[in-house]
Amino acid sequence: MVLFKLINTLRNKNCVFKGAVIIWCLNIHLISTHTEKFPTALTIKEDEFNKEKVYDTHKTQDSGELEVFYPTNEWQTLKPGQAVPAGLHVRLNLQTGQREAKLGEEEGVKYWTHKQRPKMNKQSVLFTTKKLIQALKKFKGGTDDPLKIISGQAEESQSSPFYPVDNLKRDMKMINFLVETDVQIMRKLLSQFNSTSSTVDQRVTALLELEYLVHQVDNAQNLLSMGGMKLVIDALNSTDVRLQESAAFVLGSAASSNPLVQDQALEGGALQKLFTLLAASHPVSVKKKALFALACLLHHVPFAQSHFVKIGGVQVLGELFQEQGADNLRVRIITMLYDMITEKELILQTGIDAVPNSSHQEYLQQYNEVSLQPILAEQGWCSLVPELLGSPEHDGREKALRTLLAMMPHCQTQYQQNPTLITSLSTLQKEYRKHFLTEETLGEKDGYFGEILALLDSLIMKTH
Ligand SMILES: *[C@@H]1O[C@H](CO)[C@@H](O)[C@H](O)[C@H]1NC(C)=O
Ligand SMILES: *[C@@H]1O[C@H](CO)[C@@H](O)[C@H](O)[C@H]1NC(C)=O
Ligand SMILES: *[C@@H]1O[C@H](CO)[C@@H](O)[C@H](O)[C@H]1NC(C)=O
Repeated sequence: MVLFKLINTLRNKNCVFKGAVIIWCLNIHLISTHTEKFPTALTIKEDEFNKEKVYDTHKTQDSGELEVFYPTNEWQTLKPGQAVPAGLHVRLNLQTGQREAKLGEEEGVKYWTHKQRPKMNKQSVLFTTKKLIQALKKFKGGTDDPLKIISGQAEESQSSPFYPVDNLKRDMKMINFLVETDVQIMRKLLSQFNSTSSTVDQRVTALLELEYLVHQVDNAQNLLSMGGMKLVIDALNSTDVRLQESAAFVLGSAASSNPLVQDQALEGGALQKLFTLLAASHPVSVKKKALFALACLLHHVPFAQSHFVKIGGVQVLGELFQEQGADNLRVRIITMLYDMITEKELILQTGIDAVPNSSHQEYLQQYNEVSLQPILAEQGWCSLVPELLGSPEHDGREKALRTLLAMMPHCQTQYQQNPTLITSLSTLQKEYRKHFLTEETLGEKDGYFGEILALLDSLIMKTH
């Protein structure tokens, strides 16, 4: 346990300084020029960055000055410090350096239309915890209008409508009420899930509601303290595929960047059960969620990554990669492997600059013990990864190219002797040179296609 604590401290630290670089178990889309205004934009689901507690409450004035973000289907620029509800797609516009957000297409929409949460509508405002505390402090000190402080408008006091203290008290009560409600709802959902008199439908519904709630770090930890983790892990080997799928979904969302949850889930034997889901003849929908949960459990836990490799994880993923009908899992598998390779490299690189510290050393040592590339090479991935170059999506090809490069030290000879690979690389080079020229004509410097072309050039140079 002591070791786990040390690891957690380090892991948290690493999370912070690596910031937005790590996008492991979030959805990543690179957007092509054809459909979007900003071709070099990285889109992720706003989970990792949305650690602050966000509460909704009724809008009590019409000033429109609060830092509220109203998502639509269009990309909108986020102001610094603006509260963003979970489930939105957020991207970094690499041209302006600003973050932008919109409603998600698939899972994102669910968070907004989920039946427990229709409170969140245009009449709602979002407060972050930090701002509330700030406001309360100033309020106690008797200065300024608290809501204006919340909205960061305290300095511009002209034309500010007076905000009655009673209203503030009412809001605070409501916020406390909402905090309690999350815990209460979770209790209710867990007992609905755990009850022998619940139908499978009711149990699945309970899991999906929980999945929504555990995106918030505190709620994920509530799940642990309420004994829910054990129930969720047990459901992974339930006989009903819908329960398996939803349980894996809850597990992944709760574990996402949450070291406490990761440790408890690993100690509770989740890894082995996810393996079973990935290996046996389960529906693709189950495997998709199991893969998601696996990536979230392993992210930043080198100790678990070594274990994963030792118990045959690479082989399980290899079989999955080659399975009929698992095409849409392939990009996810490669992304997960690539992220694991680069996570280690990043940590080891930044580790060199860090102050020597024995527990830090131990963490680095654990990363040193994760040896993924040799095993990937040994198990045929030097020829599996190139298969993804045939993907119709830019994103899939890009992932394949990056992974091919990352595996170069172990695969170079095999690449050089693979005529299919050599041919597809030069075909793609021609194609992306054209895209790149178009991009340049449009005045786009350092664009997405330029990046892909650079990957291709580098690969072609090393395979000749
Ligand atoms: C689930 O039900 C079992 C048996 O009824 C009980 O022992 C256990 O405490 C329950 N777990 C939770 C988290 O409610
Ligand atoms: C799931 O596995 C646990 C042990 O890991 C076992 O106790 C339980 O009965 C299994 N559940 C089902 C439905 O097979
Ligand atoms: C080592 O690093 C950890 C985490 O960053 C920190 O808590 C601890 O105080 C450090 N120890 C020393 C001796 O600097």
